[in-house]
Amino acid sequence: MKRNILLHPDPRLKKPCAPVTEMTDELRSLADDMLATMYDAPGIGLAAPQIGVLNRLIVMDCVKDEAEAPRPMIMFNPEVIASSDELNTYEEGCLSIPDQYADVTRPADVDVRWIDRDGNEHTETFTKLWATCVQHEIDHLDGKLFIDYLKPLRRQMITRKMAKLKRELARE
Ligand code: NI
Repeated sequence: MKRNILLHPDPRLKKPCAPVTEMTDELRSLADDMLATMYDAPGIGLAAPQIGVLNRLIVMDCVKDEAEAPRPMIMFNPEVIASSDELNTYEEGCLSIPDQYADVTRPADVDVRWIDRDGNEHTETFTKLWATCVQHEIDHLDGKLFIDYLKPLRRQMITRKMAKLKRELARE
């Protein structure tokens, strides 16, 4: 089932999320809904707070080549446990901040630990777009948006545009 994606500015996008302590069918179905919502948008990553659920859960699939098999990932309590000194800059966007893009510099490679939908723990090294995406999504769980990396003026400009967009949408 597709869910509504919250748009910035929204207080729920600024809150730290609680760890998942027990895997339930409800959480599994929430994760499935998040994947469906992400693919539909379309996007390459989505964090639970973006649909108003303040739990540490993200989904992503950074496979862009249509000829390649999709790799839907569901990650509970994801955590960066090591970061490379080498940095990488990508032009980032966010489903909660539509049509706004900006360069963000982050560690190029990260080791991430998480729990899958069956409760099993995994650790994997992510590189390139996957590394950027997983860091962007984990930031959401700490109430942090990619625009928080930008200079204040640029951030305020984007936030003003978004507030205007939300007023227009509310009038429709
Ligand atoms: Ni985002």
